[in-house]
Order: sequence, then C-alpha cells, then structure tokens
Amino acid sequence: IKETALAEANAAADAAALEEVRIKYLSRKGLLQDVMAQLKDVPNEEKPLFGKGANQLKQELTALIKEKQAVLSTGSRGNSCFDPTLPGQWPALGSEHPISKVTARIVEIFQTLGFTVADGPDVETVWNNFDALNTPADHPSRDEQDTFYLNSGDLLRCHTSPVQVRYMESHTPPIRIIAPGRCYRRDTPDATHSANFHQVEGLFVAEDVSMADLKGTLAYFAKQFLGEDVKIRFRPHFFPFTEPSFEVDFFFEVGGKARWIEILGAGMVDPEVFKKVGYDPDKVTGFAFGMGIERLAMIMYGIKDIRNLYENDVRFLSQF
Ligand code: PHE
Repeated sequence: IKETALAEANAAADAAALEEVRIKYLSRKGLLQDVMAQLKDVPNEEKPLFGKGANQLKQELTALIKEKQAVLSTGSRGNSCFDPTLPGQWPALGSEHPISKVTARIVEIFQTLGFTVADGPDVETVWNNFDALNTPADHPSRDEQDTFYLNSGDLLRCHTSPVQVRYMESHTPPIRIIAPGRCYRRDTPDATHSANFHQVEGLFVAEDVSMADLKGTLAYFAKQFLGEDVKIRFRPHFFPFTEPSFEVDFFFEVGGKARWIEILGAGMVDPEVFKKVGYDPDKVTGFAFGMGIERLAMIMYGIKDIRNLYENDVRFLSQF
C-alpha cells in the first residue's frame, strides 16, 4: 500500500488529482484509517512494528503531497500568484527643484557665450571670502552678526565671489567662468530671508574688457532669460571688489504687470583684486557679477515665501 500510495501521489498531474490521492489515503475514511483499524487484530509482539510502518507511510505521503501542492500551485498550469500581464507599479516620479531649474537655465545661457562652470567649497578661508576681494577689515559684512565663522577660523562663504579668487589664483587670463553655489548669512529666516541661499557668480577677465562688454553680456542674458521685451538698467552701487559697481535691474512683466526689479550686483573687477591674485592690472581688465537665485525663482514662479523652497513638500515642488 505504501508503494502504490506514493506512486499515485507522484503521478498526480494537477492539484485536483493530487487532492483525490490525499482523500483516498489520508482522509478520515481513507485507506490509512483502514490500516490503523487492523492494528487491534495484529499479535501483540508485532504491534510496534506495524504501527511504526503505518506512521511512516502517513508522514511520507503527507510530506510528498505538500511538496507537490506547492509545485503545482506556482507552476504555469496551476493557480499562479504571479501574473506577468498585470501592469507594474510605477515609483512616484519626483520633479526638478525650482532652484535647480533656474540655476540650470542661467548656466546654460552663459555657456552659449563661452563661459565654463567653476565651483568652490562652502567652507572658505577669510582670505578668499574677504581679503582677496578687497574687503576692508572693518567692512560690516565681516561682522560676526552677518557671517558664520567656524572654530577653525574659516567661515561659511557669504557669497559666491570667493570662487573668483580661487579661479584667478589657479588660472591665467583670459578666463570666463560662471559659478553657481550655496551661500550663508546670519539672517533670521522670514518670508524673504534664509540663512542658506544660492547665487550664481560670473567673471570675465581678458585684455581690454570694458563696461560695454558687461552691459552687452547682461543685456543678452536678460533677453534669453526673460524674452526680447526685457529692458535693463544700471544703478551706481558699491562693492569692495568692483569699481565702478552697479546694481542691475530688469524691466519685465510679473503677474500681468511690467516693472523694474533688482536682479544682480555687478561691476568692473577692482585693480586691487587683480593685485591680490597675482594678475597685472595694467595688462588685464574684467567684469564680474553675482545674482541671487531664490529671488529670481520667487519672481518667476510667483512664490510668496522663500521657506517654501526648503521644506521639500512634494505638493509644492511638483508644481514646477
Ligand atoms: N558678491 C556680491 C553680493 O553677494 C554680488 C557681486 C558679485 C557684485 C560680483 C559684484 C560682482 O552681493
């Protein structure tokens, strides 16, 4: 009986046939019960052997049926739990951050003019962030109230201008770079201030670079960035590292109304800066500019609170 039972179980071609074998041998009215019923008629000394044999049959048959059930249920003919025709589950797609978007567009425009991307670290030396940029020892931006100083004596850069210094100290003119990156200032966060923000720096140094080149470059940028109708104007300003210095406004339409909006700081590189980085101010001239990315993104997308840009709320971010 053992051999036929195991052979029948092995031969079962599908789950139904297997179930029949199970019922035939293992159910309450099955053949194995009949065998067990015979136990009382077996002579006493043979009982242990008989019982052992019957138990072994039960165990082996049960195990075999279980194993075959598992194989048949996952096989292609059984009730498959894997259906390759069901559509897959797509991971939720993210979207580009508005800061990244605006930065990429600015960089792209300047690249068409031959500017290459340069960068520098967030932790800077006082020399790169202030001294080499001709910033006097008593300049307010050096104040601990405004700049994050580290115990090491270094600081978190408060603008991307130190990349100018790094690049000039390690390259000879002519140079034409654009440098996007993070900046840090000790501002109390509110709707328009963040202690961590982003700038894009630009620097062009060669023989005979003039104010006309600066104006032409920025006008080209403005048109590419905001469209042919945009106008630009230069307002005199002061930066320690440029002379003359300007704040540059763009005139364009925001929320259905055209108006002048301050976009960037710029100027002709101060000869003192050239001296500090080892360039000869009698041989080269240059212009530099720096613009805040958050402000641009907020104006372009109508974002009212700068903090929205840092909260990483997908409901906000997925709109851009
Ligand atoms: N570094 C200046 C700022 O953070 C911007 C600037 C860069 C101005 C380059 C002139 C030239 O405000």
